[in-house]
Amino acid sequence: MRLTVIGTGYLGLTHAVCMADLGHDVMGLDVDADKVARAGNGEVPFFEPSLEPLLRKNLDAGRLRFTTRFREVADFGDVHFLCVGTPQAAGGEADLCHLHAAADALAPRLRRPCLVIGKSTVPVGTARRLAARIRARAPAGDGADVAWNPEFLREGFAVEDSFSPDRLVFGVASQRSAEVLQQVYAKLLDDGVPALVMDLETAELVKVSANAFLATKISFINAMAEICEQVGADVVHLTDALARDNRIGKRFLAPGLGFGGGCLPKDLRAFRSTARQLGVESVVNLLGEVDAINLGRRSRVTELARDVVGGALAGRRLAVLGLAFKPGSDDVRDSPSLHVCRELVREGALVSVHDPVAMRNAARIQPDVRYASSVSEAAANADAVLHLTEWADYRVIDPTMLATVVAQRNMIDARCTLDESAWRAAGWSFRILGRREQRPGNPAPTSPAAPRELLRRM
Ligand SMILES: NC(=O)c1ccc[n+]([C@@H]2O[C@H](COP(=O)([O-])OP(=O)(O)OC[C@H]3O[C@@H](n4cnc5c(N)ncnc54)[C@H](O)[C@@H]3O)[C@@H](O)[C@H]2O)c1
Repeated sequence: MRLTVIGTGYLGLTHAVCMADLGHDVMGLDVDADKVARAGNGEVPFFEPSLEPLLRKNLDAGRLRFTTRFREVADFGDVHFLCVGTPQAAGGEADLCHLHAAADALAPRLRRPCLVIGKSTVPVGTARRLAARIRARAPAGDGADVAWNPEFLREGFAVEDSFSPDRLVFGVASQRSAEVLQQVYAKLLDDGVPALVMDLETAELVKVSANAFLATKISFINAMAEICEQVGADVVHLTDALARDNRIGKRFLAPGLGFGGGCLPKDLRAFRSTARQLGVESVVNLLGEVDAINLGRRSRVTELARDVVGGALAGRRLAVLGLAFKPGSDDVRDSPSLHVCRELVREGALVSVHDPVAMRNAARIQPDVRYASSVSEAAANADAVLHLTEWADYRVIDPTMLATVVAQRNMIDARCTLDESAWRAAGWSFRILGRREQRPGNPAPTSPAAPRELLRRM
């Protein structure tokens, strides 16, 4: 099939490449000429393991090309995927200006029957309004149909998730659209991926409610962390015990600094804004608390840093490990770590940072910190080290080696993934969110993976 993908950012470029790899003839379009030129040269402008070789393979096979011209995509494709950004507007709602601009540029050029498939995350009701907007402008009129096929891929696993999604969601307004979607994804359907066909509104809601649920799960465990701190319990052990309950599961149940990135926070706020417009106060209140709990964890890290250095942060040297909003990505949009960095800098701390891949993106929006080329360089003479993004590289840091470069051995593990016993053994004070400071006489907490060790110490 001849497909086009409009908007070749994280989602769109991945989708274009994966559709080409499934055997379709694909044309990607972006208004950013630089992105188009780089993609056409086989270059992925963001960190996504395994995408670049696949891009090159499909360029070489002649199944993939890129353009900035809407006329070309309209002439080329029978199916047009909309993958443009839907950022957060000033009031928290989704800003649909890119979606409208793309639809308005495409529609007047649609001369033959086609299917426009939205993949961007949008407020419920958008697809139906967009369909009317496109039909009103398209020479093909009712022949230009609209469907919604929300995307659930995770940055860092984008290719894997595109080829093996848990499910495909087809939001349609006609049988014809459902059939076209089945043709587009025929290979995945043959591989056993379930396709759930539903109306447009339900499909839009599947995406935003999935993100709201995942955000709620993270904020739930972080609310429990606050309780743990109050009563002297240990959130790491609590989480481990909850996660082993099959009804609960361990995914998205990590206590710590909470969620960030280009999707969960803005999608949560946009959904809340929709609920407010609909007058559904229970959802407005629920999602407001989820957001507030999440942002509260960021301030809690700053409080902990003050606590650890024994007072004001002004003039204190702090090392921050990790800037990306999560490991496996160079995305720093609404990064919890960068948020903490800003708070630390505002309080006068001298902040030195390290990240394996996200430093270039971070430097564009956070110039007031020192970017170090290694963990040791970041930690040199530090009064405390803050572990804020849980890269696998940081789990293998040698605490004894790092102890030789810092001014004071203070570790704040805001992601609860470091080997606490190893850090303590090397003489570090070790703090996490969700556990009071250990006082003499209390059993030292251990990793949940070592219950025998805990029993031995008790
Ligand atoms: N990033 C993810 O992991 C992910 C996952 C699922 C869903 N989504 C959703 O997908 C959408 C895109 O997200 P993203 O992360 O890829 O954003 P992005 O900012 O990386 O990419 C958006 C792209 O759209 C382009 N664009 C803007 N206006 C355009 C126009 N009028 N015509 C053509 N191109 C235009 C931009 O230049 C940019 O390259 C959002 O709605 C997001 O919520 C993203």
